Amino acid sequence: MPLAKASRILFTLFVALGLGSCSKLVQYDPDEREVYDDFKESHLADSLFRNDNPASYERFVLGRKLFFDPDLSANSSTSCVSCHLPERAFADFVRISPGVHGPNGFRNSPTLINVGSRSVVNMDGGILHLDLQPATPIEDHDEMDISLVRLIERLSQDEKYQAMSLSAYDRPLDAFVITRALGQYCRSLVSRGSLYDDYISDSTTHRLTATEMMGMELFFSDRLGCSGCHGGRDFTDESFACVGNFDGDDQGRARITTLREDQGKFKVPTLRNIALTRPYMHDGSVYDLRAAMTHPLSIDTDHPNLDERLISFELSEDEILALEAFLHTLTDSSYLAHGLFVNEQGDVNKY
Ligand code: HEC
Ligand code: HEC
Repeated sequence: MPLAKASRILFTLFVALGLGSCSKLVQYDPDEREVYDDFKESHLADSLFRNDNPASYERFVLGRKLFFDPDLSANSSTSCVSCHLPERAFADFVRISPGVHGPNGFRNSPTLINVGSRSVVNMDGGILHLDLQPATPIEDHDEMDISLVRLIERLSQDEKYQAMSLSAYDRPLDAFVITRALGQYCRSLVSRGSLYDDYISDSTTHRLTATEMMGMELFFSDRLGCSGCHGGRDFTDESFACVGNFDGDDQGRARITTLREDQGKFKVPTLRNIALTRPYMHDGSVYDLRAAMTHPLSIDTDHPNLDERLISFELSEDEILALEAFLHTLTDSSYLAHGLFVNEQGDVNKY
C-alpha cells in the first residue's frame, strides 16, 4: 500500500476513534440545551459576538466549565468564580479579591452581568475585546499566575476538555479555544429582568412605589445629573470620567494612554445590581450604597481632570431614601433562576 494512502487510512481511523470517544465523554444535557436555545433567542440576539466566535451551546458549556475550574490557576486554588461570585452579580464582596498569592491586586472585582454589551473592557479600557480579556487574569501574577502554555499542557491531559474543545471549536484545546470559550460564557451573562425593566416594559401591570418613582425622577433629573454619565440601558454611557476620588496610585485611563488629562479617569460603571455589588468604586474603598450614590457630593474639587458633568446638589433625608429605593429596583435575580450560568453547585465535572 502506498505510504500516503496508508497514512490517510490511519488518520481517518484516528479521527473516527477520537470522535467516537468524544461523544461518550461528553453527555450534553438535552433539556439544558433547550433552555439555552430559548435563552439565546430571547437574550443574546443583540450581544456583540465576534464573527470567529458565534454563540453555541457547546461553546457556552465549555466556557462555563473553565470559569468554575480552579485548575486555571498556578496552584489550583483560584478560579474565575473565586472573584466573580454568581450570587453577587458576578462581583465580589471583598475590597480586593485574593488571587493565588493573596489579595495583592489593586482593583475591586466588578460585576460581569451584561459585560458583553460593553464596548471596552476593564475600568481603564485597557482591553478592546471581551474574547481577549481572559488571558489577563490567567497570566496575571496577582490573579491566577499561570502561563497559557503551561495551562494548555495541564488541561490537554484531561480527555473531557479535549472532547469538549473538539465539539465546540472543532480543534484541540489551545489558547484560542480557552479564551474564546471564556469570552463566550462572559458574553452570555445577559440579564435585564429587574423591577425597573418590568416597569419600563409595561408600567400598567408593573408598578413602582411612590418612593421608587420619586427616586427615579431624581436620578434622571438635571438637578442631580446622574444619567449624564450613568445613562443607557445598563446605566453607563461607557465614557471615562474622573469623579475626584483618584488616590494617586491608580492612574486609571492614563495607565493605558499615558496622557496627563486621563489621570484618575475610570469607565463609568453600570448601576445594575448595585445593591449586590458592594464594596464600590475602582478600589472598593466605599462600602455603603448611600455614600457611593452621593459620590458627586464628596469630590475633591481641586482635581484638574474633574468631570464637568458632575453637579453639586443638596438632598433631603427623604430624597436620599428615594434615590436608594430606586437603585434597589435595578436588582435582578432572574439570572440565577434559569440555572444556566451556574452548573450544579459550580461542579466543574458535570460534563
Ligand atoms: C483574583 C481575582 C480575579 C480573578 C481570579 C478573575 N478576575 Fe476578572 N476581574 C477582576 C478584577 C479586579 C477586575 C477589574 C480589572 C480592571 O478593571 O482593571 C476584573 C475584570 C474582569 C472583566 C472585565 C469587566 C468589565 O466590566 O470590564 C472580565 C470580563 C473578567 N474579569 C472575567 C474574568 C475571567 C473570565 C476570569 C477567569 C479566567 C477572571 N475574570 C478571573 C478580578 C478577578
Ligand atoms: C461625571 C460622570 C458621573 C456622574 C455625573 C455620576 N457618576 Fe456615579 N460614577 C461615575 C464613575 C466614573 C464612577 C466610578 C468611580 C471609580 O471607580 O472610582 C461612579 C460610581 C458610582 C457608583 C458606584 C458604582 C460601583 O459599582 O462601584 C454609584 C452607586 C454611582 N456612581 C451613582 C451615581 C449617582 C446616583 C449619581 C447622581 C447623583 C452619579 N453616580 C453621578 C461617574 C459619574
